[in-house]
Amino acid sequence: MNVVADAAQAVMKKALALAPDSWIPGGVPDPLIRHKHGLVGTPVSRLDGRFKVSGTAHFAAEFPLDGMAYAALAFSAIARGRITSLDTAAAEASPGVILVMTHLNAPRMKPLPYFLAAGKAAAGDNLPIMQDDQVYWNGQPIAVVLAETQEQADHATSLIRATYAAEHATTNFAEAKAQGLHPANFAGQPLQLKIGDADAALAAAAVSVDVTYRTPFQNHNPIEPHAVTLAWSKSEGREVLRVHDASQCVSHVAWTIAEAFALEETQVHVTSPYVGGGFGCKTLWQHHILAAAASRMAGRPVRLALSREAVYRVVGGRTETEQRVAIGANKDGTFEALIHTGAIAMTAHNNVPEPFITPSMILYSAGSLKLSVETAHLNMLANTFMRAPGEAVGSFALESAIDELAEKLGMDPIELRIRNEPEKDPVSGLPFSSRNLVEAYRAGAARFGWKDRHATPGTQQEGERMVGIGMATATYPYQRMPGGAARITLTADGHANVEIAAHEMGMGTTTTTAIVAADRLALPLEDVSIGYADSELPGLVLAGGSQQTASIGAAVIAAHRALVTELLKLAGNASPLAGLSPDQVANEDAGLCSIDDPSKRESYASILSRAGRAQVSVEASASKPLESSHWSMHSYGAMFAEARVNTVTGEVRISRFLGSFDCGTILNPKTAASQFRGGIIMGLGLALMEETQFDERTGRIMNPSLAEYHVPVHLDVPEIDVIWNDIADPHSPMGAHGVGEIGITGVGAAVANAIYNATGKRVRDLPITLDKLL
Ligand code: MOS
Repeated sequence: MNVVADAAQAVMKKALALAPDSWIPGGVPDPLIRHKHGLVGTPVSRLDGRFKVSGTAHFAAEFPLDGMAYAALAFSAIARGRITSLDTAAAEASPGVILVMTHLNAPRMKPLPYFLAAGKAAAGDNLPIMQDDQVYWNGQPIAVVLAETQEQADHATSLIRATYAAEHATTNFAEAKAQGLHPANFAGQPLQLKIGDADAALAAAAVSVDVTYRTPFQNHNPIEPHAVTLAWSKSEGREVLRVHDASQCVSHVAWTIAEAFALEETQVHVTSPYVGGGFGCKTLWQHHILAAAASRMAGRPVRLALSREAVYRVVGGRTETEQRVAIGANKDGTFEALIHTGAIAMTAHNNVPEPFITPSMILYSAGSLKLSVETAHLNMLANTFMRAPGEAVGSFALESAIDELAEKLGMDPIELRIRNEPEKDPVSGLPFSSRNLVEAYRAGAARFGWKDRHATPGTQQEGERMVGIGMATATYPYQRMPGGAARITLTADGHANVEIAAHEMGMGTTTTTAIVAADRLALPLEDVSIGYADSELPGLVLAGGSQQTASIGAAVIAAHRALVTELLKLAGNASPLAGLSPDQVANEDAGLCSIDDPSKRESYASILSRAGRAQVSVEASASKPLESSHWSMHSYGAMFAEARVNTVTGEVRISRFLGSFDCGTILNPKTAASQFRGGIIMGLGLALMEETQFDERTGRIMNPSLAEYHVPVHLDVPEIDVIWNDIADPHSPMGAHGVGEIGITGVGAAVANAIYNATGKRVRDLPITLDKLL
């Protein structure tokens, strides 16, 4: 069966690779790429900025519902075993307590397919949710308390007493590896790849490096912790669940909650108008299901806002990795072998093996490749996606190793990279849709002052501080997931409302969507409104994988085409546009005109009024995302860091940072710059601070707070310079690529390489804390 499916997939892949460009979405470049007179490319402030600074933007935990109860969670204290007793009497007797829900009284709920395992699945794990006495990780919810106030609920959880029959838990990476490694699959694709004989080529190479890098567990810390405010009601005899969520996938969440309670998808309505950061963690975790179950039991609306600690207990983070990178090169620097292999920690109940080999699949031409990710199973909370899963930590290893090799070769690290720049995709052999990485290196190097770098490490000192600069390559794939759809409603007064179940997590999505729609419809920005983040709207659009912008773009292209078709029908024979097909018209000045004879034109208002219509509304689905099977589509960048390392204390300060990007057309420079900087700041955290303290004896996360889990604060972050080349990808909607995740990639290595250049100390395990430099 698998053989047949694999063969069919291989045939399909080949057919897509060989198909004429014009058969593929993006084969005919999006007209918006050439359309430079609109707002695309001009800096536009966030349309929702005023609501956010004035406190009128309501986040998930800010919807007050009549009769609402407040929820809090109690967590297991062992990593594996059974709950033998659960004393909830004191909690139940505590003031204001409405309900204590445990496995002893919870309703039946189905385990859920994990995120990406089915079309709309959004769950972080596939474990039973409070259905029996089994404990799967240290921190698993064992009780939900509902009370009249949050404080009463929080207090009552502290009165719950549990005893356990603990079983042996594997909570140590070394032990887990010794128990056996499992070859990893990511999103259905094996993370194992061999081209040529890399081991032999490495052994025969004139110059080589062969080193191991380590990256730690990291937790998600969006400024807004996860929350749901929800209520059950009856509508036309049907039970309906209304959920105010903090989500990067409203339609997935609605479907998945419906699965848990055996409801129709349409019985669950999820909205999420504002989200205080997603980064991969605002999918579906047990708190959604537990809050809905408790609400149904108590017959009360419920708010469950996770405490910061609860985010660490319930919501997965990035897992630990151990990566070997070996590169064999000729004396001129050309690579003969690239090996990037290693192991990560994972659980048996999730599906996110950190795919750290992805940068090695795309960045360099090497005579031979050997790439592999294997997983070791621990008894812990399911790990999950975290900003640029794979590339964020994979680029730390690969790009540090390139720096190590450059030094052995006595070559400039940028020149070494350029020497190995591939002409086509090193793995698939597909042509690149758009790759201007060399230009990004050169532009970044010129602006950062790379030529002033001291090639010999440890030779530049200012007072107590050693100073050095380093760089690394950034990369992240262009993706567009299937399922995009949009509705456009155009009214006779010339207003367009564009509706799509997409998400605004602070990136500027609504602003960018309005810009793109306004330019395509030739309307002023103020005449376009956006409906979004509502599971009842068209489209299955995940705000993840840096793919939302392309996904929205393709959906808006399809809806725009349907609208033009409909407008031409309504225009009829009395219009100057009579007889023209959708391909023969363009949008200009709030109307349509003939491309060949722009004097033939009619405004939307005129078309609708003659047709006696107050409005026209169309809905359409995006083309299938075949472009990334026909071209190799990726974003690129070059990251430059200047580090100052205190010789007395080991303290590292990053005094300058520059990102030089090649990400297609930049739609809104204002919000894109903010995305790049945000990614880079998270990258500085990855390089220097972030580390989940996972107690390897008990499997307990020991630093579940922002006091003990360090992320960069203002004083840790220098002015970050970002530049981009703004070269359109001819094969993507609007010529654009996503810009959400690339910013974190390459930063870890740029910082490590700068620290090496400053001190001569090569740190191969993150974070680079001061103890590693003394
Ligand atoms: Mo991102 S880790 O795909 O939200």
